[in-house]
Amino acid sequence: MFQFEEIGYVESCYKERFGTPRQAILVPSSWGIIHLRPELNLQDGLEGLEGFSHLWVIFVFHQNTNKNIKMKVHPPRMQGEKTGVFATRSPHRPNPIGLSAVKIEKIEGLKIFISGVDLVDGTPVLDIKPYIAEADSLSETRSGWLPSPAAHRLEVEFAPEALLDLQRLRPIPQHEPERFLQLMQLIRGTLQLDPRPTFYKGTNEQPNPYTNVYGFCLENLNIVYRMEGQTALVIKLEETGK
Ligand SMILES: C[S@@+](CC[C@H](N)C(=O)[O-])C[C@H]1O[C@@H](n2cnc3c(N)ncnc32)[C@H](O)[C@@H]1O
Repeated sequence: MFQFEEIGYVESCYKERFGTPRQAILVPSSWGIIHLRPELNLQDGLEGLEGFSHLWVIFVFHQNTNKNIKMKVHPPRMQGEKTGVFATRSPHRPNPIGLSAVKIEKIEGLKIFISGVDLVDGTPVLDIKPYIAEADSLSETRSGWLPSPAAHRLEVEFAPEALLDLQRLRPIPQHEPERFLQLMQLIRGTLQLDPRPTFYKGTNEQPNPYTNVYGFCLENLNIVYRMEGQTALVIKLEETGK
């Protein structure tokens, strides 16, 4: 029996599991901040880390609600088929520990600013390690059941009302005009990956029997979109109040 205490937590642009990318690096404009716990006196441990471009985050899937761990799981990209949990990156595993390689943007004190995250806000961090290309980037690999090429990305469009919402909720700061475009890029990058669970996507033979309108939380915004064929049309943005 081993017990580990978290060394910090992740503040993330993704506030809930729905919408959070299924792997790190897939949405380069997604952002997070690893906050290390001040009371653990970890500051000296960060020395030298600024020389690395990427970082492994080892974390706890703390928002798992499913306590009944199954050895065969349905990965979203397996179109309803099952495979062994250890052949997947599923959050629902005997030890709910995750591993993500993210980009280091900058380090300020005990805060590590990262991008390309697949982590929900508040994720507890067990450890961080530098990404070492010569050890971690392998060639001549096999990818088992994963479809090749990588999953097709959706088209993303913004309705005029959604753009007005964006301008109203996030007026462009004079000193940061790029902020508006960054947020649009983050919404676009997130929706391109089609975050819907497989059974909501339907098939040609069995179209989705549910609603076609979805919402997900990004920063303090609720992004509402409608699926129109293979296009995600953003129709409304509202403040979540959180
Ligand atoms: C498929 S896992 C992959 C995570 C990691 N890259 C890995 O391979 O271990 C990514 C998904 O985990 C979920 N997730 C992220 N952070 C979580 C957390 N703290 N608790 C529970 N689920 C989380 C999100 O739904 C996200 O889409």
